[in-house]
Amino acid sequence: MDRNLALEFVRITEAAALASSRFMGRGNEKAADQAAVDAMRRAFDSVNIDGTVVIGEGERDEAPMLYIGESVGKKGVDAIAVDIALDPLEGTTICAVGGEGAISVIAAAERGNFLHAPDTYMEKIACGPAARGKINIEKTATENIRAVAASLNKPVEHVTVVILDRPRHESLIAEVRELGSRIRLIGDGDVSAGVATCWDDSGIDLLLGIGGAPEGVITAAAMKCMGGDFQGRLKFRNDEEKDRATKMGIKDLNRTYRLDDLVKGHVLFCATGITDGPLLKGVRTLPNTHLSTHSVVMRSQTGTIRHIEAMHDLSRKAF
Ligand code: FBP
Repeated sequence: MDRNLALEFVRITEAAALASSRFMGRGNEKAADQAAVDAMRRAFDSVNIDGTVVIGEGERDEAPMLYIGESVGKKGVDAIAVDIALDPLEGTTICAVGGEGAISVIAAAERGNFLHAPDTYMEKIACGPAARGKINIEKTATENIRAVAASLNKPVEHVTVVILDRPRHESLIAEVRELGSRIRLIGDGDVSAGVATCWDDSGIDLLLGIGGAPEGVITAAAMKCMGGDFQGRLKFRNDEEKDRATKMGIKDLNRTYRLDDLVKGHVLFCATGITDGPLLKGVRTLPNTHLSTHSVVMRSQTGTIRHIEAMHDLSRKAF
């Protein structure tokens, strides 16, 4: 992955974050998402890539823009061919209620290197570099927490597990409570939460539970850059979802996907905060017509993690 691309991609997530942040707390999920999608789509046109969206806003018939299979980028001379996994607004509800951890995110890899995940659920486990290689989604939550505790050299009671607050996680939550570990229940946004396991001062050690499969691939891209670990198993609610997965090329519906199955080769990950969260500050409105953004850009090839704080002047450039 070309390192210059990383900085180009930041402009795209910044544009989406700035646009959707106007809708923070205004209770309108659709408008916030639309603003992010429109801004991200426009911004792609200025970047010289020959990109194909493989994880996007949905299939062509359900998403007018940034749909799976859509071609994006300027496609000029020397354009780099890449596959793109994106979420212009990860945490739509978070943004609509002004909660914690909405981000705009893009990951890019060489053609064919992302799992073409269907828009179904995925059971996930993610941890930071210290516990890499020690987690196993086929084992119980208790066994995984014990493994993470041993890797971090701390008692299980000091391990903090982040879990989406959903009825489907009732027994998982009960098991973690029984073990005595700490839990951070979140309303939405398991990409931020997964990535936070690699952030030393996030206070989060492990992500467990079921969330969106596309978000799983995006999280895996970040984990690869940061040296963390991630595993996932697709979860289907009905036969229609299974059919969709089969049509997308998934042969074994029960397969365990490890990091390299989700993201092959090298990858680039870039995210901008929309609302304040464990990873990134949200968009801030400053005096006059200024707004600030906080982004992170990383590449698996080098492991460099770059934080970019930018100041934007709306009187000179509209978003
Ligand atoms: P959106 O940004 O699409 O609203 O996704 C938010 C999210 O919380 C993801 O982070 C998570 O993977 C998924 O939704 C969980 O799905 P559900 O809300 O159906 O449990």
